[in-house]
Amino acid sequence: MSAPVLAIANQKGGVGKTTTSVNLAACLAQQGHSVLLIDLDAQANATSGLGLEKREGGSVYRPLLGDGTLAERIQPTAVPRLSLLPSEVDLCGAEVELARMDDYLNRLKKGLDPLRDGHGYDVILLDCPPSLGILTLNAFAASDRLVVPLQCEYFALEGVAMITRVLKQVRETGINPRLELMGIVMTMFDARTRLSQNVVAEVRQHFGETVFETVIPRTTRLAEAPSFGKPIITYDPYSAGAAAYEVLATEVAKRLGLRTP
Ligand SMILES: Nc1ncnc2c1ncn2[C@@H]1O[C@H](COP(=O)(O)OP(=O)(O)O)[C@@H](O)[C@H]1O
Ligand SMILES: [Mg+2]
Repeated sequence: MSAPVLAIANQKGGVGKTTTSVNLAACLAQQGHSVLLIDLDAQANATSGLGLEKREGGSVYRPLLGDGTLAERIQPTAVPRLSLLPSEVDLCGAEVELARMDDYLNRLKKGLDPLRDGHGYDVILLDCPPSLGILTLNAFAASDRLVVPLQCEYFALEGVAMITRVLKQVRETGINPRLELMGIVMTMFDARTRLSQNVVAEVRQHFGETVFETVIPRTTRLAEAPSFGKPIITYDPYSAGAAAYEVLATEVAKRLGLRTP
C-alpha cells in the first residue's frame, strides 16, 4: 500500500503545527510505524526540534526546482523508525522561484510520489509553513489528508473557517480533488481557564467528530523539549504532553487505517 501523506497545516503561526508534527511523528514511530517527516518551513523548527542541523542544499528546495531528489536528502533521527527531510534557510526563497516554474503547484507531489512506495514508509507527514502560500499549496497537492492544529483561543473558529474555504478551493480548482480534512487537533489547552473549555466545546459543536478526542495540554515541558532537540516522548516520557501525543498518534493511526505492527 502507498504510504498516506498528511499535511499539518494552519495559515496562522504559533498554533502548534511544528510541535504536533514532531511529536505525532515520533509517537507514530514509537508505536512501530515507519515515519518520514518533511520540514517545509524555512524556520526549520521541526529540524532543530529533532536535534538536526539545517544544511545548505539539504532541504526540499533544490529538488522542487528540479535539482536532485528528495530521497537523497532524507536523514535518520535519534528516534528509531523516524526519518527527517530537513529544512534550510533557502526555503524562504522557494515561493518566488517556484512561482516562475511550470506546473508549480505539483512540484512537491512529483518529488514525493516515488517515496510513497518501496521506501518502507508507513506514513509521511508534512510540517507546513504559517501561510497559505505556494509551499503550503504544494503540500495540499501532494497530500491525502489534512490535519489542522488549532490553538484554544478566541477566534479559533475563524481560523478553521479560512482553512476549510481553502480546502474547498483546492478541491474545486483541481489542485487536489481528493484532499480530505482528517482532523482538527485542539492545542495548548489550559484546563484552568473557561476560555479553553468554551473554545473546545464550540469547535466540537461545529466540526463534531472531525475534532480529535485527544486535546493537547499547554505544558512547559512541551515548550522546552525542542531546545534539547528531542520530542516529548524522549525528553519527558511520563509527562502529560507525552501522554496526549501518544493518544493522538493512536487516533491518527486508526483514522488512517494503519495496521498496528
Ligand atoms: N501544548 C503546548 N504547550 C506549551 N507550549 C507549546 C505547546 N504547543 C506549542 N507550544 C509552543 O508554542 C510555540 C509555537 O508552537 P509551534 O508548534 O512552533 O507552532 P507553529 O508551528 O504553528 O508556528 C512554540 O514555542 C512551542 O514550543
Ligand atoms: Mg512551525
